Amino acid sequence: MPLDLNAMPKAELHMHLEGALEPELMFKLARRNGIELPFPDVDSLRSAYSFGNLQAFLNLFFQGAEVLRTEDDFYDLTRAYVAKCRDQNVTHVEPFFDPQTHTGRGVPMAAVIRGITRALAEAHEDWGLSYGLILCFLRHLSEDAAQHALDAALPFRDHFVGVGLDSSESGFPPSKFRNVFARARDLGLHAVAHAGEEGPPSYVWEALDELGVVRVDHGVRAMEDRSLVQRLQREQMPLTVCPLSNVRLKVYDSMAQHPVLDMLEQGLKVTVNSDDPAYFGGYLTENFAALREGLGMSDEQAVRLAENSFDAALPGLAVNR
Ligand code: ADE
Ligand code: ZN
Repeated sequence: MPLDLNAMPKAELHMHLEGALEPELMFKLARRNGIELPFPDVDSLRSAYSFGNLQAFLNLFFQGAEVLRTEDDFYDLTRAYVAKCRDQNVTHVEPFFDPQTHTGRGVPMAAVIRGITRALAEAHEDWGLSYGLILCFLRHLSEDAAQHALDAALPFRDHFVGVGLDSSESGFPPSKFRNVFARARDLGLHAVAHAGEEGPPSYVWEALDELGVVRVDHGVRAMEDRSLVQRLQREQMPLTVCPLSNVRLKVYDSMAQHPVLDMLEQGLKVTVNSDDPAYFGGYLTENFAALREGLGMSDEQAVRLAENSFDAALPGLAVNR
């Protein structure tokens, strides 16, 4: 009997809550908030989920997020995600949220953070999910804007444990955000950043050396730089790899080309994650299943990847494993 990938306990360290907005919930929230979506129905929206690159996806992702207006909307979104976690035996999560995507449209920071943390805290109470929330800065905006986002979130400092960096990568190097990351680290927040998804290996070096990250999100393009790979091996720097996302966003042509198992066998601290599960064809179990199907992942490799996901949790969290 092959290992049951769904029943295997696992942690998710790289997912964007806004990326868990399934079309059905998007339509429901649009109706609730009196918003007209530019798609007639759920099926036509889903059929638009074909992306040539990261930017093509982000355009739809930001448009979809516009239905999120109230604290209850963020609660419903997060509740749907944690329900999936329960179904898939994901016992620890460190989700991202993008406050600037919402505050830029006039949604109060309080509504965003309170809605998200209400659902996370309930899942903790109800069935023992452990979690740490990560506030991401949008890298296509300025460092000043990131500083303002951090200011606005500080009244809720006890609701999040880290800061991250996401959105369009190419042309927006991590070094642009060195000051706001330094301030966040001074506040006791952990730093992570997307680097080496579409951007070059130099962005991974910058995330390490200029942002002081404790984990690199994606990082797959680090494989192009031998001395970077050696450093990541030596430091056992966790890399939160997102297989279905990388294929959907054409980082690789097919799962058969994905390097995640080679990375694992080279002794890199890789983990498997869903990134934006509503847009990329699945949650954590589906990502593991795609590795078995497309790359012949063994049960032993699956277990090692799951163990890595717990080992790579942010320091200081009580992790349920
Ligand atoms: N925001 C949501 N998903 C993202 C990704 N894969 N890369 C960068 N920013 C994102
Ligand atoms: Zn991501």
